Amino acid sequence: MCSPATKTLVSRFSPVDVTVYPYECDAYGHLNEAGFLQLFERARWEMLARGPGADLFSRNGVWPAVRRAVVDYHRPAYPADVLRVEMVVEKVGRTSLEVQQRAAAAKDGALVAELHIVFVMIDKSGKPAPMPDEVSSAFGGRVTVPTGEIVRYGVGDVTLAVESRGDGPALLLIHGFPLDRSMWGHQVATLARWRRIAPDLRGCGFSDAPEQGYSMAAYASDLVGLLDKLRIERAVIAGLSMGGYVAFELLRRHRERVMGLILMDTRADADTPDGRRGRDALIEVARSQGAAAVGEHLLPRLLGRSTQRTQPQVVEQVREMARRMPVPGIVGALTAMRDRPDSTPDLGAIDVPTLVVVGEEDELTPPAVARAMTSAIPSAAMTTIPGAGHLAPLEAPTAVSRVISEFLEAVPRP
Ligand code: MLT
Repeated sequence: MCSPATKTLVSRFSPVDVTVYPYECDAYGHLNEAGFLQLFERARWEMLARGPGADLFSRNGVWPAVRRAVVDYHRPAYPADVLRVEMVVEKVGRTSLEVQQRAAAAKDGALVAELHIVFVMIDKSGKPAPMPDEVSSAFGGRVTVPTGEIVRYGVGDVTLAVESRGDGPALLLIHGFPLDRSMWGHQVATLARWRRIAPDLRGCGFSDAPEQGYSMAAYASDLVGLLDKLRIERAVIAGLSMGGYVAFELLRRHRERVMGLILMDTRADADTPDGRRGRDALIEVARSQGAAAVGEHLLPRLLGRSTQRTQPQVVEQVREMARRMPVPGIVGALTAMRDRPDSTPDLGAIDVPTLVVVGEEDELTPPAVARAMTSAIPSAAMTTIPGAGHLAPLEAPTAVSRVISEFLEAVPRP
């Protein structure tokens, strides 16, 4: 089953889930144009409330007046459907703001509707007013991406949701825990000249979440199945944290498929006995209290202190990702990480171009761990990302995309 998306949205606003209300639907039970406009508006205010504040405009003495709004429908929506709404800013002008919103079914990611909307800032007398700096910086500086696709591929006993973009040699981006492919939004959007492939691992994002069958070997074999489906012989493998553990497994089992390696905010050693006990305790939290409780437990150490202080939208984005992870996927990932083998003895044999990247403020896999790993890998290079914690690609997306791009330039192409 395919779930095409016409745009991959890269935004400083975290997506929100919105439920369709019966009163928004027409006599035939469909969400109609007026209903969609209302639903998109609810989503925008929710995003503002969770980000810069719902009083962003009023505290700056302006109001966003709608000048044009166009809805494109892709599938019907009915009362009680839950739609995940994303927003990207297309243009911040002197007095105007252009925004694109996209609503997808929360259960499978299928695109339902898109809205293109233009606002003009007006003052109390209704005249156009200059865009206040705070509004401009709250909306500004994001990338709009022309085409993107989330496609579902059956590999082995699961279906994986995969986002891919571009042509050229393949770059496989493997996310961490408790996250999904959307953590690579900036890298997928910007690393031109490479075919960027960002799957949701089994149990994560929009991929299937079976009750059983989680291990580093299973994740690695899913990804090799995916490369086979895409007819990709070799790829540069980039893995963040748990994604790095999967990358080590890929190297161990399928060395011939790896043409380069990016190890990001990760470690080679296995869990300590204490660490294993911690995994078991968190499995209990997942089972008894659900995904959101796991996210709250992990959040303070996933993000650097600078991000927690200055980027509330990134905090929300991570919270949302954790919250929507299915419990079987959480339990499976914790089990797989708890039982993963020690990859330290394999480091000396790594013979592909390797880059180690670490956030300066990463507390889970700190720079000292990255340095030790780098020095054990023949000819690996290391880069530290200032002001970022454990989730460097989300916290400092531009800096991380730049170092990846420089590294990729030096990888011999097939
Ligand atoms: C991750 O970000 O993937 C996790 O922090 C990895 C771990 O818990 O070992």
